[in-house]
Amino acid sequence: MLQLDLKGKIAFIAGVGDDQGFGWAIAKMLAEAGATILVGTWAPVLKIFTMSFNGGKFDESRRLSDGSLLEIAKIYPLDAAFDQKDDVPFDVSENKRYKDLTQYTIAEVAEAIHRDFGKIDIFIHSLANAPEIQSDLLNTSRKGYLAALSASSYSYISLLAHLGPYMNAGGSALSLTFVASQQVIPGYGGGMSSAKAALESDTRTLAWEAGRKWGIRVNTISAGPLGSRAARAIGFIEQMIDYSIANAPLSRPLLANEVGAAAAFLCSPLAVAITGTILYVDNGLHAMGVAVNSPSLAQNKS
Ligand SMILES: NC(=O)c1ccc[n+]([C@@H]2O[C@H](COP(=O)([O-])OP(=O)(O)OC[C@H]3O[C@@H](n4cnc5c(N)ncnc54)[C@H](O)[C@@H]3O)[C@@H](O)[C@H]2O)c1
Repeated sequence: MLQLDLKGKIAFIAGVGDDQGFGWAIAKMLAEAGATILVGTWAPVLKIFTMSFNGGKFDESRRLSDGSLLEIAKIYPLDAAFDQKDDVPFDVSENKRYKDLTQYTIAEVAEAIHRDFGKIDIFIHSLANAPEIQSDLLNTSRKGYLAALSASSYSYISLLAHLGPYMNAGGSALSLTFVASQQVIPGYGGGMSSAKAALESDTRTLAWEAGRKWGIRVNTISAGPLGSRAARAIGFIEQMIDYSIANAPLSRPLLANEVGAAAAFLCSPLAVAITGTILYVDNGLHAMGVAVNSPSLAQNKS
């Protein structure tokens, strides 16, 4: 019988801050397949996430198909905008949400994971941030643009560079992208469209480099719209979801666990020969060239 079996594998998922986003859904699906789950949670939301998780707020959504609850072996504080301790500016390290934390830069987190768990098998990058997301590209500042690229794209390169030596050959790295990298989605601003284009291009180059260096596969999932916390910051996610239902080949909302299932497949031995690829998990919306609900396409235009 064909099986998606990740028993004995260790997965680190960077970008889990609540139970609504893709990172959480991927964690659940990897756990369903038997993997041990470690997560990296953005430093400013670490406290609320940990309190909610430990306090039972997520118990309903932690439930796996066998009735047990999703276990997280360790939650690491992470700010993927910083590679080393020396990179953290004073105003950040002294900020009340960072002050009591140690070891949240990428290099420190990778070392801590290695210390705690030895080698891992799966690395998921499910994070993005653009301080000027609501600005058109023409109105995005240099600072805002570079911040989007730093947190949303370079973070993947840096995390893989630091985790790669601590990953077993045959392991898998995966990120989340969006079709705005390739086609215009007005309003997906602040340099996020550019950040996703970089992420997709880097997926190919990293597949080559990490494949030859460590025997690791590198892929990205281009997901359809989901009403996560990050997506709500864009401001029009509900309209994007409605648009997808109206215009995609499959007229249905996308569920986070459908992306989780595709992620589990890509990280499993079933996908042993798949690397450097963009897998669309979006009900087929990317394939459409026109919006079928456009009034311009109405048959009996007056
Ligand atoms: N929601 C969508 O419609 C959609 C569609 C396609 C792709 N994606 C991508 O999916 C990924 C996950 O996003 P999501 O929509 O599930 O939302 P989400 O809010 O669940 O995940 C984003 C996470 O990034 C974290 N984060 C932000 N800045 C960080 C930093 N500097 N260091 C570490 N963590 C940081 C946030 O705390 C949050 O947990 C992102 O890459 C996003 O661009 C989302």
